Amino acid sequence: MKGLKKAAAVFCAAALAGTFLTGCSGGDQRRIVRIGHNQSTNHPIHLALTAFQDFINEELGDKYVVEVFPSELLGSQTDMVQLTQTGAIDYCVASNAILETFSKNYEIFNLPYLFASQEAYHHVMDDKSVTDPIFGSTEKAGFTAVTWLDAGTRNFYTANRPINTPADLRGLKIRVQQSPTNIEMMRLLGGSATPMGFGDVYTALQSNIIDGAENNEMALTDNGHGDVCKFYSYDMHQMVPDILIGNTAFMDDMSDEERAIFEEGYKLVNQVEREEWVKAVEAAKEKATNEQHVEFIYPDTAPFQEACAPLHQSVLQNNPSLQPIYDAIQAYNAQYPSTAE
Ligand code: GCU
Repeated sequence: MKGLKKAAAVFCAAALAGTFLTGCSGGDQRRIVRIGHNQSTNHPIHLALTAFQDFINEELGDKYVVEVFPSELLGSQTDMVQLTQTGAIDYCVASNAILETFSKNYEIFNLPYLFASQEAYHHVMDDKSVTDPIFGSTEKAGFTAVTWLDAGTRNFYTANRPINTPADLRGLKIRVQQSPTNIEMMRLLGGSATPMGFGDVYTALQSNIIDGAENNEMALTDNGHGDVCKFYSYDMHQMVPDILIGNTAFMDDMSDEERAIFEEGYKLVNQVEREEWVKAVEAAKEKATNEQHVEFIYPDTAPFQEACAPLHQSVLQNNPSLQPIYDAIQAYNAQYPSTAE
């Protein structure tokens, strides 16, 4: 892994040398727009960003050249957020989970069992009056969120012990994302939280450093976690969105016309990713079942939800400005309640 990280750093330095394309004559002044993410080239996020690349290159190709860097080529998500913050790159996709270390407002979307249903989740994330106060909260820190991406539902998966109740997590080392909310969630559920970057999880599972992890179904197939973990338990603890963030200064420097086209592009990213997501999850479940022989388990989610409940209160107490947003989410939950029996 260390070798890989070094390679990524060297690649990164080489890739980021220069912001403008300069032809042999030195006359090409098109601005290179770099976007990083941590998924494979099959993943809905990559497909959505390449649609954005094609759209911008077609609409504004005389001024901008969009380049998409997948697979942590520009570093881990935390590295990429920092590169976006300083303007070394222009955009990246980061999980909402890690953004809470940059602004506490992001804690809200990391709360376990925040959304009553997928419909409630989608309506909340599409409602700008809910997301704007969160997405704009890092503007002064150098980056702004421009759209959200579906990353499904997060569930526990383990190598040897099926998880049917929170008690089954006891004594297990479970990888979580590097966020205080996730660490606290694991503490409340009784497991031992092992925070690490996404790119390190496969090796940690394979070498028994951890007993399991938690993620959507695509982690089983696209990241190979299902080669090691044979039990995937639908406890449905979180719906954590991915967020496309952009360097604030870069976006502020655009003309109004250019900004309007980029904004169309962000909508396209959201739309393509969501369409591809539905197909990708279905294909992942099929592959995990038939090729990796992963067993899907459907436990009673109520004991998991009860164990996590205190986290809602503590996050709201520590950041009362989140209360109106929380209340707006509860209104969506009432309108789109859970359909589970
Ligand atoms: C999902 C999510 C990623 C995130 C990863 C993780 O794959 O889409 O943005 O990095 O989970 O668990 O770290």
